[in-house]
Amino acid sequence: MVSEVRNNPSPVLRVEHLSMKFGGLVAINDLNFEAKRGAITALIGPNGAGKTTVFNCITGFYKPTEGMLTMTRQNGEEYLLERMADFVITKKAKVARTFQNIRLFSGLTVLENLLVAQHNPLMLSSGYTILGLLGFPTYKKAAADAIEKARFWLQKINLVERADDPAGDLPYGAQRRLEIARAMCTDPELLCLDEPAAGLNARESAELNQLLLSIREETGTSIILIEHDMSVVMEISDHVIVLEYGTKISDGTPETVKNDPKVIAAYLGVEDEEVVELIEHAAATGSDDITAAVDLLSTEAIQEITETQAEVPVAAKAKTAAKPAAPAIKAGATANALAAPREGESDDLTLIKGIGPVNARRLNEHGIFHFDQIAAWKKADVTAAEAYLAFDGRIAREDWIGQAKKLAKESQGKPAAKKTGGAK
Ligand SMILES: Nc1ncnc2c1ncn2[C@@H]1O[C@H](COP(=O)(O)OP(=O)(O)OP(=O)(O)O)[C@@H](O)[C@H]1O
Ligand SMILES: [Mg+2]
Repeated sequence: MVSEVRNNPSPVLRVEHLSMKFGGLVAINDLNFEAKRGAITALIGPNGAGKTTVFNCITGFYKPTEGMLTMTRQNGEEYLLERMADFVITKKAKVARTFQNIRLFSGLTVLENLLVAQHNPLMLSSGYTILGLLGFPTYKKAAADAIEKARFWLQKINLVERADDPAGDLPYGAQRRLEIARAMCTDPELLCLDEPAAGLNARESAELNQLLLSIREETGTSIILIEHDMSVVMEISDHVIVLEYGTKISDGTPETVKNDPKVIAAYLGVEDEEVVELIEHAAATGSDDITAAVDLLSTEAIQEITETQAEVPVAAKAKTAAKPAAPAIKAGATANALAAPREGESDDLTLIKGIGPVNARRLNEHGIFHFDQIAAWKKADVTAAEAYLAFDGRIAREDWIGQAKKLAKESQGKPAAKKTGGAK
């Protein structure tokens, strides 16, 4: 069945002329794309590009300002999602989602979270009566089926042993997997995952890749994936769509998209011409994918920008010859901002998962250059950083402070390693 579905190129979801405005802000601007049935479609783009807003429109959380969202089920039924309420979208159109911020019932057990997801078929089989709950054979059968399905997904996500523990006690990576299992318990035909790899370590990311591939292979469920982790995107996606400021800037196979200068430019926040130059350099040094290219390019772009910022007029230079040049710190900085990196060298902040090159640059502009600075952040500093990075809750979610503490410890005693900014 799965191979039949995979060979059928018909779209499971068609997004046509989708626009979403919040007052004067155009979060999505006339967006068109298709998600193929049985495929993994990745939706990527820098922070604030409009990715989550697309999901909120598909799953009925927002009513789009304009546009049509057509879901075609395997049985041929078509649903215009923009006209439907969120709970009907899950139940009838068979679209399920996970959230950028985990939304489990943290006080319920792992198993209970999976059973609650199956509330609809259970209640239906009870005839919505207490007698039904107590006595109907159909209810007993439905309850047994629900437990069986929960058990199946618990095995798939390796959490059988934790079935009776509160979901809130699970480590972060396990909570992410549980969210996916919970969505799968509603038997979706389209599964929308909002940054499932956020905050996961490398091993957990690899496990997630396996889980998503097995969902696609074994259930034929189509997946739309929002993800910042390029290793996940490039490894498992069949098709990638790139958004920037609400507009589609690239659409194609991972291979095409990763070599698209517009995409790299969007991620680095630099001009296209600069990117072409840098891509040539990446090719010359053997980097053949966007992750490596972005890594390399980011280092160079950040270097270049740090150097430009460090440039001061000749007269001023003469006066301050003994001191390192200090870039101006932008307003709204965190309490422990520095005027310049210590000894002229920043740590490579992109080693913190969740910090991309653009954010590293913004942090530098706001006087943050070192792991130990982020490690020492207090709540107010996080709030200040979230304001200038335009992040909502991501710093805590991805535990930047914890990651920075580890990296600060590791980098003690090896000052030249993994640095950017001064080294040539
Ligand atoms: N309910 C809302 N009211 C006003 N503006 C909103 C609302 N939801 C989103 N936005 C704005 O729409 C734009 C797109 O936001 P969205 O959350 O979709 O981006 P994203 O691509 O998911 O970013 P990230 O990678 O940081 O999660 C942002 O400028 C955001 O501030
Ligand atoms: Mg988002």
